Order: sequence, then structure tokens, then C-alpha cells
Amino acid sequence: MSAVYQLPEPVEPEVEPTSAEWLARDEAALAGVLPRITDVVAVRGEGSWLWDADGRRYLDFGSGIAVTNTGHCHPTVVDAITAQAATLLHTSVVCHPTGMIRLAERLAALVPFMADAQVFFCNSGAEAVDGSLKLARKVTGKPGVIAFRRAFHGRTMAATSLTTAKGKYREGYEPLLPSVTIAPYGDLDGLDELMDVQAPGANVGALIVEPVLGEGGYVVPPVGWLAGLRERCDEHGILLIFDEVQTGVGRTGRPFAAETFGVTPDVILFAKGIASGLPLGGIIAPRAIMDRWPTGSHGSTFGGNPVSCAAALATLDVLEEEGCYDRARRLGRIAVERLGRLCSEGPGAGPVDVRGVGLMIGVELRDKAVAEAVQTRCLDDGLIVLLCGPGENVLRLIPPLTIADDEFEEGLDILVAALAGEA
Ligand SMILES: Cc1ncc(COP(=O)(O)O)c(C=O)c1O
Repeated sequence: MSAVYQLPEPVEPEVEPTSAEWLARDEAALAGVLPRITDVVAVRGEGSWLWDADGRRYLDFGSGIAVTNTGHCHPTVVDAITAQAATLLHTSVVCHPTGMIRLAERLAALVPFMADAQVFFCNSGAEAVDGSLKLARKVTGKPGVIAFRRAFHGRTMAATSLTTAKGKYREGYEPLLPSVTIAPYGDLDGLDELMDVQAPGANVGALIVEPVLGEGGYVVPPVGWLAGLRERCDEHGILLIFDEVQTGVGRTGRPFAAETFGVTPDVILFAKGIASGLPLGGIIAPRAIMDRWPTGSHGSTFGGNPVSCAAALATLDVLEEEGCYDRARRLGRIAVERLGRLCSEGPGAGPVDVRGVGLMIGVELRDKAVAEAVQTRCLDDGLIVLLCGPGENVLRLIPPLTIADDEFEEGLDILVAALAGEA
């Protein structure tokens, strides 16, 4: 008998889809409501860099919107995640996860100005905002909330009620939470007037503020304004809530902006940068306040999950060990000085204003068209920068806090060239 040898079917080598192919699949598969800022199909990240599906490399001055403060895939963070994932993924409130305890202790140590700080963990910034409003109601018994014009606090219904960064965030969603008063940002007289005629302190339980306005345009408040808020909250028995979802975890050159500005709020909210990209958020407040939030009156299935907590502990290690708080202050000053010089180089050329604290820098341009053109040029030259502000005319620079000096300079060079090209 003779056997007929069958040649094996040729195996096609697996070809990874191109960016264009991914974008077509994205368009078909994902709900269009989710905005995407660029067409970069990121497949890999390392430090300050991202690679797309076509092999192009980008310097990332957006950090996944102020999240990857330790850069992409920092080995210390990846190791901690990997080890935790192999040990224990989840117990929720059924048990007492040790990572949550350790992280709460660690966070309390970062806010020594807050007496006996305790932490409640959730998964995101908006959840932290929602939770803080519930906390304020329990503690003060007063339903009213004061928030500020152009603030962004998130996408849940309660957080949307406090958000006026853009009309689009509210359009079609009313009625929103009642008893919310929107006051002008950075203006104590305007606040006093509103509290006189519309939101008397007797009605208001919470005043929530971004210590530096984020999505609303990277606006640094006037000196003394946050202290003025503290005084008014003390006078009227209102909880002062700092939404540090964007300013927190080193962004302003200290662990929290409360320290940067020397004002102690009653409540600090955090999320974004705390776990280098894993979902985690939370509420920090003195025990005297937390004790008035009855057990079981709030909670979360996933909040403070062991893997996110391990990532957060490693994130805080990296920020400390690599001197990231100092670096944020130093590089921030360099950028504001260098870009600020361009402001005065004649009408029409360069930014209208450059401002910032630490590595949270806003470069305000003439209008949205110029800002978009600069953003596109930067992207073409391999630099990711984001826009913000109600007019979308502010470039925001939020690179990782681990960024090397030469990488930071390279990014600024690209930006300066793009600004010159659009002047
Ligand atoms: C200041 C501030 N608060 C809250 C949020 C909402 O956070 P999340 O998107 O994690 O819900 C954001 C998000 O950009 C923010 O910048």
C-alpha cells in the first residue's frame, strides 16, 4: 500500500490589523456617545511613550487625561498588579481586604493636615463626587450644594448637576439634582451675593470645588480664594469638598493641592492618577465626619478592589522614590517660563496666556481653530496634547510625573514649533 503524503494547508501568518482597520471596527462596535480625542489606536505604552497599531511612536502629554502619572506600564506598578492578580482578585465587603487597609493608612499619612483621616473607596471620580454629596447630607442635614461655573465633576446624574464646563454635558439631561447653586469661580464677592439672595448657608450642606479648574480651562484661582471658601464654610456649617480627581496624586507638585494651596478642606476626593490607570477613586475625610456616615448607608461592590489598591500603593511608592513631586514643580516652572515668553512676542503670535501649578499647565490660545490646528500639528509630529476650556482653546499639558527632562524638552520643542507654525 502506498501512502499519499498530504502537504499541510499553508498557515497564513497572523497579521495585526492596521490603525485604519481598527478604526473601522471601532466605529461599528462601540457606542458613538463615547468621545475620542485622537485617532491614535494605542497598542502599547512604556514610560512617556505610546505606540499605535502602525508602529508610530507618540510622546504622551495627555497621560490618559491625568491618569498615568507614573507613565505607561511602570515596572513597579506592573509587578504589584501581577503579584496581586495571582494572589487575590476580589472579596468585596464580604471580607477585609488588606490592600484597602494599607492604602487608606498611606493616604491618611499624605494628608497630615487632616485630623484622623479615614478613607472610603469607590471606582471613579464621579462616584467619589456622588458619595461626597451623600456624606454631606448625612453630616449637615442640609440638601443644598454650591458648585462653581465651568467646573467638571463627572458624568453621573449628581455629578452632571454640578458640572458646567460645557453646555453639552447637561443638554437633554434635565431635570438634574435640585438645590444646586452655581457660583462664579475665583470670585468671593459673587459667591457672597449668591449666598445672600439664593443659597443661604442654612440651606447649604456642601460646597464642592476644583482647587485648579480642570476641564473648565486649567484656571488657577486667585490667591486667598480657597481660604475664603474655607472661612465661609466654617461660618455656615458647610462641608468644604475639594474635588482633587485631577489635581490630586502629585499633579500640582504635592500629593494633594490642598497642601499646595495651604487650605484644609473637610473632604478630599481622588481618582484618576491614584492607581496609574486601574479604576479606583475615593473620599478622604476626618474620622469625626466619617463617623456620622452610618455603616451600610453607602457602599460599593468593586471599590477598593485588591488589584487597584496594589497598583495604588505601588504608584505612591514610585512618586516618592523617583522624586516626582519635586519634578512636577520644577518642570512645571520651566514650561510656564518658556511658553510664557512666547505670549509677549507680538500680537497674534503664540499663546494668549500660560498658567499652571506643577505639571498641570494650560496654554490658552486665541480660539478653538488655532488650538485644534496646534494640536493636530503636534500629533503629526508625534506629541499628544489635549484641549480644554469652554471654548476648547486651551492646550493642557499633563505629562507623566515620571517624565525625563529630555523627553519633556522634546515635547516642548514640538509644541513651540507647532505654535510658531500656526502664528
Ligand atoms: C475634577 C474632576 N472630577 C471628577 C471627574 C470624573 O472622574 P471620572 O471620569 O473618573 O468619573 C473628572 C474627570 O475628568 C475630573 O476632572
